[in-house]
Amino acid sequence: MFEIVTKRKLNDSVVLMEVKAPLIAKKAQAGQFIIYRTDERGERVPLTIADKNPEAGTITIIFQTIGGSTKSLAALNAGDSILDVSGPLGMPTHFEEGIKKAVVIGGGVGCAIAYPQAKKLFSEGVSVDVIAGFRNKDIVILEDEMQAVSDRLIIATDDGSYGKKGFVTNILKELIDAGTQYDVAVAIGPVPMMKAVAAVTKPYGIKTIVSLNPIMIDGTGMCGGCRVTVGGKIKYACVDGPDFDGHAVDFDELMRRNASYRGEEQHSCRLTGTVRSRGNANTEEK
Ligand SMILES: Cc1cc2nc3c(=O)[nH]c(=O)nc-3n(C[C@H](O)[C@H](O)[C@H](O)COP(=O)(O)OP(=O)(O)OC[C@H]3O[C@@H](n4cnc5c(N)ncnc54)[C@H](O)[C@@H]3O)c2cc1C
Ligand code: FES
Repeated sequence: MFEIVTKRKLNDSVVLMEVKAPLIAKKAQAGQFIIYRTDERGERVPLTIADKNPEAGTITIIFQTIGGSTKSLAALNAGDSILDVSGPLGMPTHFEEGIKKAVVIGGGVGCAIAYPQAKKLFSEGVSVDVIAGFRNKDIVILEDEMQAVSDRLIIATDDGSYGKKGFVTNILKELIDAGTQYDVAVAIGPVPMMKAVAAVTKPYGIKTIVSLNPIMIDGTGMCGGCRVTVGGKIKYACVDGPDFDGHAVDFDELMRRNASYRGEEQHSCRLTGTVRSRGNANTEEK
């Protein structure tokens, strides 16, 4: 059992938890993740290790309550325990030697996954620009944390309610066209966002790392659920990734595979006309 030491709401749907997991805290590196189950019948859910405190023996997870399994986790409080937490899983992010200037781009809750990457680069003396995109002001998360691990933090909102108005890709292109020379870009967020960032950086030859989020089950390379195609070759995101070269990823295939279980994840009620996520008490109108 893994005790939840602190729990904090970052916005209406995103929760931060520090969880006692001393062995994972000792070994975890940026880019790695855990898989948890809240109970014996629960799904196995992957979440990135957003931070760690080896002295206190804790890891930090930040997650969006999106469906049944993340809602059952969000229902737990400090002092409660999570049944299983396995990790650290996946390959740590690999950065080439000699990087001087990096841009880290996060989209929504993807900022929780981008934050440890920015922190690692910044702690190694790399100059880091962070571009963090959100739909609106109400869902901005981790502003102080990202500020602390960057030379320049640019927040963008789709509706202009906070920071710069527009998409992260427009801001990235503006910075590059203004002459900022990046040795590497790290993009983490919704798949269409990562695809769009990779399309912006490709003509400039900027190496671009993306963190993929395919459906995962065992997290150890056995089930094949997390299969992705990178550079025409089959890779398993749980053991070969989750970070890959964004210019080589087949994003369209990833989007198709991620949509495979949408029917099962949502139950559409013919009586009321509402759509319900599996195991999720909240309903939303069609
Ligand atoms: C390596 C990795 C790291 C991740 N890190 C984070 C993180 O730090 N914070 C965060 O909020 N989310 C993260 N995710 C996504 C998170 O795992 C899903 O949001 C979660 O599984 C949703 O489960 P649910 O039952 O609440 O929702 P459901 O209603 O079951 O599913 C909602 C959506 O979540 C995705 N999903 C569902 N089950 C899985 C699964 N077993 N594996 C992967 N995706 C799934 C699908 O896209 C699905 O459409 C990560 C995913 C991966 C693969
Ligand atoms: S999750 Fe099963 S092979 Fe990756």
